[in-house]
Amino acid sequence: MADKDGINLPKDYAIDIKPPTQHFHVKGMEHVDWGMKNRLSKIFNPKTGKTLMLAFDHGYIMGSTSGLERLDLSIPPLIEDADCLMATRGALRSCIMPDHNKAIALRCSAGSSVLKDDMSHEVIGVDIDDAIRMNASCIAVQSFIGASGECQSINNIVKAVDNGNRYGIPVLGVVAVGKEMKRTPKYFLLATRMLAEFGVSIVKTYYCDDFEKITAACPVPIVIAGGKKVSEKEALEITYKAIQQGAAGVDMGRNVFQAENPKAMIKAVRSVVHDKFSVEKAFKLYEDMKRCTTY
Ligand code: R5P
Repeated sequence: MADKDGINLPKDYAIDIKPPTQHFHVKGMEHVDWGMKNRLSKIFNPKTGKTLMLAFDHGYIMGSTSGLERLDLSIPPLIEDADCLMATRGALRSCIMPDHNKAIALRCSAGSSVLKDDMSHEVIGVDIDDAIRMNASCIAVQSFIGASGECQSINNIVKAVDNGNRYGIPVLGVVAVGKEMKRTPKYFLLATRMLAEFGVSIVKTYYCDDFEKITAACPVPIVIAGGKKVSEKEALEITYKAIQQGAAGVDMGRNVFQAENPKAMIKAVRSVVHDKFSVEKAFKLYEDMKRCTTY
């Protein structure tokens, strides 16, 4: 029987060896159905294979957050540079016009607020019928591997995968890091791979050391969250390193909408994700755009 010690053994992740060539541009998705591929193609640009997801679902646990006090004002100017909008159904229906062709990553898990010490006991908070009405390109569900709510959150993930598969909607499995967990490569290796094995089509996690091992061992695309606000240059560095080490994009929130100039920042992040810009070049783009873009 597999055991806890097994995950301590050093592994050869064969980082230099690419997975077998696929015809479809999204890792591990060669054999899914047409509708799911079409939705994945809205999220991941078929030319670059990458995605820039703009996350503004923070209100579902944090209430009104700095930079998101007025969703109706802060988000619309950023939409044109995003490939995908990650949000709750409440935020989308009340504040975002549906007159654009961006992919939607619909936040479908719900639970406790940040006031609770243990937030790991989430439930599925959106019916698949309503996800379809929202024209969700994927449904986002959080997992809490190693936390007291681990089993419950895994149940949410597998139910979401079953419901999503029924209608051709991919699941974005979000790796949450509870207060009792450390952001170590070992933890992310475990959590990202578990989610892929449960059948999610995309995994969202954080950047960490040895990131190329995590992307190598995860058979589906990984996108990184930005995490807490850091300087604009640091956020671009994290993005660059993640992309270089196999990430298929970012699902970034605070480091965009809390930037001094969010519109300039999303353009700079986009240049790293899709246009292979170096950190220096992207930061220069940010500085130049900041001077000429009002927000
Ligand atoms: C958190 O509530 C959400 O899952 C966010 O979408 C996620 O943390 C990404 O946002 P950020 O880049 O601000 O970490």
